[in-house]
Amino acid sequence: MELPATRLRKGLVIFPLILLTIAPILYLLFGYPLYYSSTSIYKHLTNSSSDHHNTSSELHDNDYDDTYHPKPSSSDDNHSISSYKETPKKENGRQKRKRECDIFSGEWIPNPEAPYYTNTTCRAIHEHQNCIKYGRPDLGFMKWRWKPKECDLPLFDPSEFLEMVRGKSMAFVGDSVSRNHVQSLICLLSQVEDPEDDSRQQDFNFQRWIYKTYNFTIATFWTTHLVRSEETETGPAGPNSFYNLYLDEPAPSWASQIVEFDYVIISSGQWFFRPLFLFDKQKRIGCLYCYIPGVRNVGAHFAYRRALRTTFKTILGLENFKGEVFLRTFAPSHFEDGEWDKGGNCLKTRPYRSNETELEGMNLETHNIQLDEFRIAKRDENKNDGLNLRLLDVTRVMLLRPDGHPSRFGHKPEDKVVLYNDCVHWCLPGPIDSWNDFLLEMLKNRDLTRLP
Ligand SMILES: *[C@@H]1O[C@H](CO)[C@@H](O)[C@H](O)[C@H]1NC(C)=O
Ligand SMILES: *[C@@H]1O[C@H](CO)[C@@H](O)[C@H](O)[C@H]1NC(C)=O
Ligand SMILES: *[C@@H]1O[C@H](CO)[C@@H](O)[C@H](O)[C@H]1NC(C)=O
Ligand SMILES: *[C@@H]1O[C@H](CO)[C@@H](O)[C@H](O)[C@H]1NC(C)=O
Ligand SMILES: *[C@@H]1O[C@H](CO)[C@@H](O)[C@H](O)[C@H]1NC(C)=O
Ligand SMILES: *[C@@H]1O[C@H](CO)[C@@H](O)[C@H](O)[C@H]1NC(C)=O
Repeated sequence: MELPATRLRKGLVIFPLILLTIAPILYLLFGYPLYYSSTSIYKHLTNSSSDHHNTSSELHDNDYDDTYHPKPSSSDDNHSISSYKETPKKENGRQKRKRECDIFSGEWIPNPEAPYYTNTTCRAIHEHQNCIKYGRPDLGFMKWRWKPKECDLPLFDPSEFLEMVRGKSMAFVGDSVSRNHVQSLICLLSQVEDPEDDSRQQDFNFQRWIYKTYNFTIATFWTTHLVRSEETETGPAGPNSFYNLYLDEPAPSWASQIVEFDYVIISSGQWFFRPLFLFDKQKRIGCLYCYIPGVRNVGAHFAYRRALRTTFKTILGLENFKGEVFLRTFAPSHFEDGEWDKGGNCLKTRPYRSNETELEGMNLETHNIQLDEFRIAKRDENKNDGLNLRLLDVTRVMLLRPDGHPSRFGHKPEDKVVLYNDCVHWCLPGPIDSWNDFLLEMLKNRDLTRLP
């Protein structure tokens, strides 16, 4: 199911990939319940052109990049290119070098005490991730914690977190996986306090909660692509329609909103692999999976790289924005034995050890782009005083959790849902709770996020 990056770059149409990555989209756009029978809707668009693809006319990821050319990642850190490291701290007048620890490099270890909330103690769990309610038989997937190789990652302490963010505000910018993360945070915090709804509008995608005792605000800002995008009339109707992506314009849904926030957690990924028309400076510069004569078909990750760059540029250019910005990296899905609509499923009941699997194909490429773009942004960070960019690098951590998805336990057995076996989102409680362990640890150690 994973695809070699080289083939992706050539822009070949690879059905499993399209279908896989469209799954979460269908799921969100068309609500629930809805049954989507997969046929080769792309046939008429793809036809023969993919066989005779003229690669010399392609745009590559860096065609528009006049500033930066990613080099192969340094070989001294195979496991995690990104490192979250503690700074050497000045103590008692002398430099004391603290042991450096990459908190994102490690293993899942048993934690019999988990979970810390259930479907009955937390009201915030989304139906589709409420695996306990829908009878998932093996509950062992909840009983693990992340253990970094060289240090410990404390479990989430809700009181400590709330003290840490007293009087502050936190925005989550992203898609349904971002919402999944928010709900995990709200559930973990529910051990101490439930928030009050403080939404400014009646829109599930733009919600706001306030923790009265702590004057702490959480808000969600829905965005599919981070850059401005709109659905078009082109192509097959419904879930497979094309989106126009304006690669040089941030989506106003978040860009005009985040200035007031102290913490902003940004993520994206899944939506970039569907059919797209790409615009730059109002001009159409190419497409993804369109195969229309005269329109250049670009590598699958071209749009993603550009969108991330625009995102960071926007953030760095926001006057008066002094927030701490976290890029939460891509969380791999785990369909096995078929694509999402062809019986593919995630039936594993325990985590991988880190030596049992590897980041590859689309996951690797997406992650690499995130690291590249984060690095570029980090380089320019000091142009905006007070801004702090940080990497919440969950990709490899979650790669090891094929057992953490709802599979078919995100709905009643008789319901016909789009993502019948959901191997994209994460059960609550479940491994996604660890994202908040990381978040709190990073809030506590705010000195530095450093890349090797
Ligand atoms: C696809 O190819 C077939 C045979 O090569 C042709 O008959 C058909 O018109 C093509 N469809 C499109 C949309 O190009
Ligand atoms: C591919 O495109 C280039 C320029 O767009 C053209 O020169 C070349 O002849 C094309 N090759 C094929 C096999 O169509
Ligand atoms: C990195 O990987 C290469 C080959 O995969 C290996 O030879 C090298 O020892 C590894 N380096 C580290 C630091 O693990
Ligand atoms: C919680 O899960 C149980 C099954 O363990 C189910 O019977 C119950 O209805 C669920 N409650 C809620 C509020 O989801
Ligand atoms: C609550 O926090 C906000 C900033 O998030 C601040 O503007 C406001 O004054 C605070 N309110 C109280 C009552 O402390
Ligand atoms: C992975 O490592 C563990 C112990 O560290 C070892 O027991 C196991 O055999 C290794 N598995 C593979 C596939 O290398």
